[in-house]
Amino acid sequence: MGKLAVGVAVGVAVATCAVAGVVVGRRLRSRRKWRRVVGVLRELEESCETPVGRLKQVVDAMAVEMHAGLASEGGSKLKMLLTFVDRLPNGSEIGTYYALDLGGTNFRVLRVQLGGTRSSILSKDVKRQRIPQHLMTSTSEDLFDFITSKLKQFVEQEETVSEAAQSRTRELGFTFSFPVKQISIRSGFLIRWTKGFAIEDMIGCEIIERLQAALMKKGLDMCATVLVNDTVGILALGHYYDADTVAAVKIGTGTNACYMERADAIIKCQGLLTSSGAMVVNMEWGNFWSSHLPRTTYDIEMDMESPNPNDQGFEKMISGMYLGDIFRRVLLRMCEESDVFGPVSSKLLIPFVLEMPLMAAMHEDDTPDLKVVAAILREKLEIQDVPLKARRLVVKVCDVVTRRAARLAAAGIVGILKKIGRDGTGGITGSRSRSDAKMRRTVVAVEGSLYTSYMMFREYLHEALNEILGEDVAQHVVLRTTEDGSCVGAALLAALHSSSSSSSEGLHRRR
Ligand code: BGC
Repeated sequence: MGKLAVGVAVGVAVATCAVAGVVVGRRLRSRRKWRRVVGVLRELEESCETPVGRLKQVVDAMAVEMHAGLASEGGSKLKMLLTFVDRLPNGSEIGTYYALDLGGTNFRVLRVQLGGTRSSILSKDVKRQRIPQHLMTSTSEDLFDFITSKLKQFVEQEETVSEAAQSRTRELGFTFSFPVKQISIRSGFLIRWTKGFAIEDMIGCEIIERLQAALMKKGLDMCATVLVNDTVGILALGHYYDADTVAAVKIGTGTNACYMERADAIIKCQGLLTSSGAMVVNMEWGNFWSSHLPRTTYDIEMDMESPNPNDQGFEKMISGMYLGDIFRRVLLRMCEESDVFGPVSSKLLIPFVLEMPLMAAMHEDDTPDLKVVAAILREKLEIQDVPLKARRLVVKVCDVVTRRAARLAAAGIVGILKKIGRDGTGGITGSRSRSDAKMRRTVVAVEGSLYTSYMMFREYLHEALNEILGEDVAQHVVLRTTEDGSCVGAALLAALHSSSSSSSEGLHRRR
């Protein structure tokens, strides 16, 4: 009996030890897996670091590249394109004008009625529409047929336009938000596509000719008076409201900036005569590159797999089209490293499956148990039952990716201010010290969903701007959000260059 009891006790003890061993083993394994996932996050944090010293290097690099891009054609990855916009609306524009805005995820048609006294837009009618995905890689004929048919519908539904306005040819501004080599304000050739557009037959083509041909085909008596980049439209609207506006930035699906430059600083175009002695330069800053940019393996892989490798490097770190995909790549890596998120979901293998608004929603989820994060992981990425601590990790990944983007965008803005001597340091030569450089009020018009709808992005951007400039200087710099600037601004510029306006003399590139 005694022996039996001892035997049972030993058996139980052995079994208990074995169970305990299994439990401990599991715990150890799960801790190891957790550590691996946290390791992925730490590595990401380190490679995305943007301390103010590094941001200042980016500022300097941006200003230097701007100089190089203005000095010679192909002198920099920054194209610094001429726009032939040598003056900006001031509020005296009058009449009814139209705009077509093609560039990102959405396409817009607009009509505005301008009052003729400072900043009075009497009425504004905008129709937005998502660009069908297939048209982005189809033919130019399909694309232009689509946009002009939408314009036709819009015009046919007009009720409020006066008979006088209807009896004359309607004038429109065409916003075409891709790199374009312009030879006048109403003529330009597509250099290349960005943001997922890829219509081969359009590259190198004159854009307004294509548009006019499509308008004619639809029987529309309309004339495209100006061809502008979206940032130029934003600058025009910003200036319409506030004459201290000197630059404009767009941070949406893609990103870019433009600013007013002295004509004599545009060295690659010597002898350029403009009525104001200045011209708006479309920087195409999405293509900016510098070794100071904090690049991760995720950026490198995304770039290599993109249709435009080695191009638009800054855009791929900053803009809405790409942030969700950087996030997806990090999450995929975490899932491969461990089963904290369960088995690897096939959804995570689909490029661009997670769009920026969903990433912003996860980042800004303020429910105590991160319900929004759980729902998006479940519904969009088919990742079920993610524990709370792993959901917190997801939020952190969003934070790291977005913070880097916002801080780099801030550095880009300060780069422009530096180039035009508005950063309080006396410009690129730094000849004056902070104390004797007198700061003028400087307004930068900003648009794009990242800035307008993603509060964390916006906060990080402002924070970095203050860090780089210092509070004394930053207080003179105003970032002002405009609305629909890309198209309203194009209509304003159409008014400024209207055939009925006395001062619409043509400014052409000397050949
Ligand atoms: C284009 C720019 C445009 C920007 C914002 C970029 O991809 O190259 O021309 O201004 O997106 O829409």
